[in-house]
Amino acid sequence: MDNKTEGERMGTEMELTGKARVFAVFGSPIEHSRSPAMHNAAIQALGLEAVYVPFRVEPDHLPEAIAGVRAMRFAGVNLTIPLKEAAVGLVDELSHEARRIGAVNTLWWDGDVLVGHSTDGEGFLRSLEAAIGDIPHKALILGAGGSSRGVCHALADRGVKLTISNRTVEKAEKLASEISNASGNTKASAISASFEELSEAAAHATLVVNCTSVGMEPRINESPLPEQFLRSQHVIYDLVYNPRETLLLRNARAKGAVALNGVDMLVHQGALSFELWTGFKPPLDVMKQAVLDTL
Ligand code: ATR
Repeated sequence: MDNKTEGERMGTEMELTGKARVFAVFGSPIEHSRSPAMHNAAIQALGLEAVYVPFRVEPDHLPEAIAGVRAMRFAGVNLTIPLKEAAVGLVDELSHEARRIGAVNTLWWDGDVLVGHSTDGEGFLRSLEAAIGDIPHKALILGAGGSSRGVCHALADRGVKLTISNRTVEKAEKLASEISNASGNTKASAISASFEELSEAAAHATLVVNCTSVGMEPRINESPLPEQFLRSQHVIYDLVYNPRETLLLRNARAKGAVALNGVDMLVHQGALSFELWTGFKPPLDVMKQAVLDTL
């Protein structure tokens, strides 16, 4: 064993010893998760003695899995579908972000306290700022599920005026009133996904975020927003990253709009978890390339 610090071994292949830190992602299914590739690339680039491992965990087994995190003192864990909501009641503390959206994507140790946190909202904002600089003042949000909730709260924190459209309009109404009540900064309103209402809302928004699964593999020939509503002034952000260019983004690009896919949000939310666990800022370009290599 050499006496080099982790930093001095940067970029070298690391052999694991008894000091290795174990990170994990729990979910079901987990086979298609990009997180192991992304985090292990960052671990290797920084020369950390650590490993990031995927585990298939069914919701029924989450309490035992989290007991295992405690017993084996995993250094950090990500949670993905369908476990994000179920983890809320299984940690010692919840961060503000996790509590308000009722979902946890990151477990980390604050001393001996196991904290549930969500990096999704901040990851979204960072990826947006990195791509376009200032965040637009008005946004149309498509979808009212879990990922929409994270995005809406994050944008509302920045004072963005939100219009939320969803196939099930009651869910959009519920989310809009939740955002308006939680945020002293801004108001959110709900509309249905009807042609007329969407047309009007798209015309008034600069930023449009697709938080639905429409356009995702295998339904790649569908778009959540009709092509004729797109303008060159729009910033169209599709949280979908598989395929990398959805029909919505292809149409947006053809109109001359800014078109962003979900890869950067995936990278930024992962980077925020990584920094929380290790104290190191991971190389975003390395993490992104690792994700792109899997697509
Ligand atoms: P996630 O955690 O990824 O946000 P979710 O909570 O299941 O997943 O939310 C999925 C979102 O995609 C919802 O807004 C859903 O609309 P409903 O609330 O009406 O179910 C939306 N969605 C899924 N399939 C859709 C489709 N074919 N057309 C329109 N919206 C769809």
